[in-house]
Amino acid sequence: MLRVLVIDDEESIRNLLSDFLESKGMDVVSAPNGAEGLNLLKGEKFDLFLLDLMMPGMTGLDVLRQAAAEQLDIPSIMITAFATVQTAVEAMKLGAYDYITKPFNLEELYITVKKALDFSKLQEENLQLRKALRKKFSYNRIIGNSPPIQDVIKFIEKIADTDSTVLITGESGTGKELVAKTIHYNSQRAKKPFIPLNCAAIPKDILESELFGHEKGAFTGAISTRIGRFELANQGTLFLDEIGELAPALQVKLLRVLQEKEFERVGGIKTIKVDVRIIAATNRDLEKGVRDGVFREDLYYRLNVLPVHLPPLRRMKEDIPLLVDHFIKDISRRKKKEPPGLSGDVMNCLANYRWPGNVRELENLVERLIILKDGDMVSPDDLPERMREKLPAEAASGKERRLSSGGVDLNMMLDEIENNMIIQALELSKGVKSKAASLLGLNRTTLIEKMKKKSIDFGAPQK
Ligand SMILES: Nc1ncnc2c1ncn2[C@@H]1O[C@H](COP(=O)(O)OP(=O)(O)OP(=O)(O)O)[C@@H](O)[C@H]1O
Ligand SMILES: [Mg+2]
Repeated sequence: MLRVLVIDDEESIRNLLSDFLESKGMDVVSAPNGAEGLNLLKGEKFDLFLLDLMMPGMTGLDVLRQAAAEQLDIPSIMITAFATVQTAVEAMKLGAYDYITKPFNLEELYITVKKALDFSKLQEENLQLRKALRKKFSYNRIIGNSPPIQDVIKFIEKIADTDSTVLITGESGTGKELVAKTIHYNSQRAKKPFIPLNCAAIPKDILESELFGHEKGAFTGAISTRIGRFELANQGTLFLDEIGELAPALQVKLLRVLQEKEFERVGGIKTIKVDVRIIAATNRDLEKGVRDGVFREDLYYRLNVLPVHLPPLRRMKEDIPLLVDHFIKDISRRKKKEPPGLSGDVMNCLANYRWPGNVRELENLVERLIILKDGDMVSPDDLPERMREKLPAEAASGKERRLSSGGVDLNMMLDEIENNMIIQALELSKGVKSKAASLLGLNRTTLIEKMKKKSIDFGAPQK
């Protein structure tokens, strides 16, 4: 039942309001002056209070001021005989939802009461939603204890609450979007929108209007004015995913917005100012894009203010059990399934696999196992063929491998062996490429070329 407090020094008004609101099914308490009213507000739980502005002693504005100071956050409606704009404005500033003037019509009053209650319910729901999002994107949702991912977490904790542009790089499925959202929901902008735009998923010819909006009639099909993602993201964060795919003409336009914080809608002449934080992401090597002349250098530097590089899963091998465990718990709860058990053999296969699809590939695998096994033990036979490969050393010797009647894809197999050997060599040589090259009987440049081609990322040598 909704509880309402009526604070008014006139008994007749208190009775009138109490009777009326009770007849509408509400629970009404009343107070004859500001001080008593305030005490009730502090001590009990109300959904709304009605407050007379002109009262001897503590005035309505005094009550509002106190309530605001104590962060009571209860919606209120002012009742006043003299609706001066001044006091009404003052009351609204102090957080009152609305005001009504005496003498009032009870049905009108009721409409205002209903509106205030709906509004506060909406606010409460928003608050809950934001809390849930904050929890969902708290830093500890990024799983991993290995140094490269811990470095990322420490770095984004430091930079989340700045307005600087972030450029997130990393292979597909390494958590770029997860990191972008984590930054947003831990910044001052958390209460404002996080607007994603995937530059690769939207056809080139409509990307500009997606970004900046368009005016009615700007092009065939522009039947009405539409605001773009930049405007939608105002005061919040715009996440430009797959930024490496942005066409040159749009690179110029984006550069201007980053520099001037203003733009025009397509077909428009009015300059629109926005306050937007940019987080961009790409799985491409943008520096190479710059060298090859497909990505503007000036734009690259504008974006690369705070670089975040996400390690591929094969560089966080020690975290594989942790991630598996996290996804098993998370997905079985969501899918209402029993978590399956994993044998040591299975963990071995997972630890030795190269994970070209990174954490996403691991997450998808776990989901499949949960659905297939529903609580049973998982054995290596339940894993996809590519994960059941023998250890690279055995595979390389070729002795263990039998050509089955289904045949093999020789190129893929050789490629896989080559990848495994390169990674092992880099691991043995702690990332020192000249050493790794000599372990493989290659020269250093050939190794580097191969690593680039296969996008094997081994970061800087580890000490
Ligand atoms: N370190 C991590 N801890 C927990 N979950 C992770 C981690 N990294 C990635 N994930 C999860 O893996 C999935 C893929 O991550 P995300 O979509 O952020 O990757 P991405 O880098 O944007 O991939 P793509 O380049 O393919 O768009 C998501 O469900 C994400 O929550
Ligand atoms: Mg992504």
